[in-house]
Amino acid sequence: MRAPRPCDAKRSGPAARPSGPAPQSRYRHRVSVTTSTTPPQERAPARTLAVYPGSFDPITLGHVDVVTRALTLFDRVVVGVAHNPAKAGRHLLGAEERAELARRSLAHLAGVEVELVPGLLADYCRARGATAIVKGMRSGTDLDAEAPMALLNRELGAPETVFLVADPAHAHVSSSHVKDIASHGGDVSPHVPHCVARALAQALSRTVPPVPR
Ligand code: PNS
Repeated sequence: MRAPRPCDAKRSGPAARPSGPAPQSRYRHRVSVTTSTTPPQERAPARTLAVYPGSFDPITLGHVDVVTRALTLFDRVVVGVAHNPAKAGRHLLGAEERAELARRSLAHLAGVEVELVPGLLADYCRARGATAIVKGMRSGTDLDAEAPMALLNRELGAPETVFLVADPAHAHVSSSHVKDIASHGGDVSPHVPHCVARALAQALSRTVPPVPR
């Protein structure tokens, strides 16, 4: 006979249950508890997958930092290059190029994929079996913009959004700032991976006429 384990006492037969109606729970939400007879060490670890969506025009070291820290919470992170209608027609880089730069910038991290998100983020999360959405949070302004999106995504069937507070080293930098600095010939290398700095210079030489001095 096996030795009794903790909690065995709770599994006693029907005679041990008090008769009459079940006592009212003082908690509003019922939680259903499932028990497993498989010892913990033999169970497959739970797989968690976070989707980190954004425009990534371009990916910055702040984004790389968010992915790096998300990997401490989730088994896998999918960076989703998604469509933001508010930025339509204002992208410097095409979606494929943004995704490719993200891939190269994150190649040193295991457990990361980069994909294009073709439509609604919530639909993509469902299709991928995502367990969370991850977003970086640089400031209160970010929170004001992100909180309604998190609620709307939840209404649309997406998983919960987890906000990771940006590292102070990157919290003042955005993709827009990086593009602005680069378009005026400034040095963006402290804020973006090398491949991005090179790609920005090339893209700007194609698109931005030099400002007369
Ligand atoms: O980096 P951004 O531009 O701030 O990211 C915004 C983005 C792309 C994550 C957001 O616009 C988005 O989720 N687009 C996908 C379409 C979608 O699901 N829209 C509903 C959001 S509530």
